[in-house]
Formats: sequence, structure tokens, C-alpha cells
Amino acid sequence: MAATRTFSILKPDATRRNLTGAINAMIEGTGLRIIAQKRLHLTRAQAEGFYAVHRERGFFGELVDFMISGPVVVQVLEGENAVPTYRDIMGATNPANADEGTIRKTHAESIEANSVHGSDSEENAAIEISYFFAQTEITG
Ligand code: PPS
Repeated sequence: MAATRTFSILKPDATRRNLTGAINAMIEGTGLRIIAQKRLHLTRAQAEGFYAVHRERGFFGELVDFMISGPVVVQVLEGENAVPTYRDIMGATNPANADEGTIRKTHAESIEANSVHGSDSEENAAIEISYFFAQTEITG
């Protein structure tokens, strides 16, 4: 089967607790390859633009404040069924509902500080990847 890509963010709660390596090991354990990665401190404008689809939701301001509260690691992941493979290992949005062995069950602190973001479709993955990465930064 052809390799596909998804977009990932390791959120500020993960970088603050020095979990980049531990989470990357869980990602790589699925067979997905981290084909691009960089550590950034998002500006408010970057975070608001990235989460614009959620701007009408009650938690939008808190989500943006949280995402700019510390550095993040943005990543491109590649492999078979990359979007669902990553969503499976991420676990449910609220760690209280996440399955054992998932990133969020293992590491997340709360529904807000839930350690990781992953694209919900291949179409959105392409949009999110191009929001943060130039083609020249991705080495498949
Ligand atoms: S999903 O899968 O996109 O439908 O998940 P959803 O539950 O709609 O959440 C969208 C993103 O908002 C974050 N979120 C919250 N942030 C702060 N406070 C509350 N209460 C809250 N609820 C949801 C959630 O972590 C999702 O962020 P990303 O980065 O997309 O995972």
C-alpha cells in the first residue's frame, strides 16, 4: 500500500515535561516515520490561524493560550494509513476516555493539555503540513 502522510504537534505540556523522545518512540513504534520535525514557539496569530476552524467554540481562547504557553514540536509522519494509524496511538481527545497504551492515556494531563495533535483527514493533513513546512524541509 502507498505511504501517506499526516501532521502532528507535540503540545506545550509534552515539551515542558521533556516527553519529546518518549512520544516519538511511541509514534515510531507504530511503524510511522518522522520525515520532518521542528521545535517552534507559536505566535498567537499562528495558533489562531491553525485552529481557525474551532474559533466559534467556547474553549477557543483557552486552546490558543495553551498552545502558545511554551514550545511545540511540529512533525510530518509518513507510513501506511498515516492519519488513522496516528489517531489510534494518540487516543481519545480527553485522556480520561483514552485507551490504555495510547499517548494521551500514558502522558496527557487533561482535555486541554492533551500532549498531541493529529490531522483528522488526509485532506486536512496536506493543509496543516503546508501551514508549517516548505516542501524542501520534508525528506521522505
Ligand atoms: S476533534 O477530534 O478535532 O473533533 O476534537 P475536538 O474535541 O473537536 O477538539 C478540537 C481541538 O480542541 C481541543 N479541545 C480543547 N481545548 C481546550 N479546552 C477544551 N475544553 C477542549 N476540548 C477540546 C482538542 O484538544 C483539539 O485540539 P487538537 O490540537 O486538534 O487535538
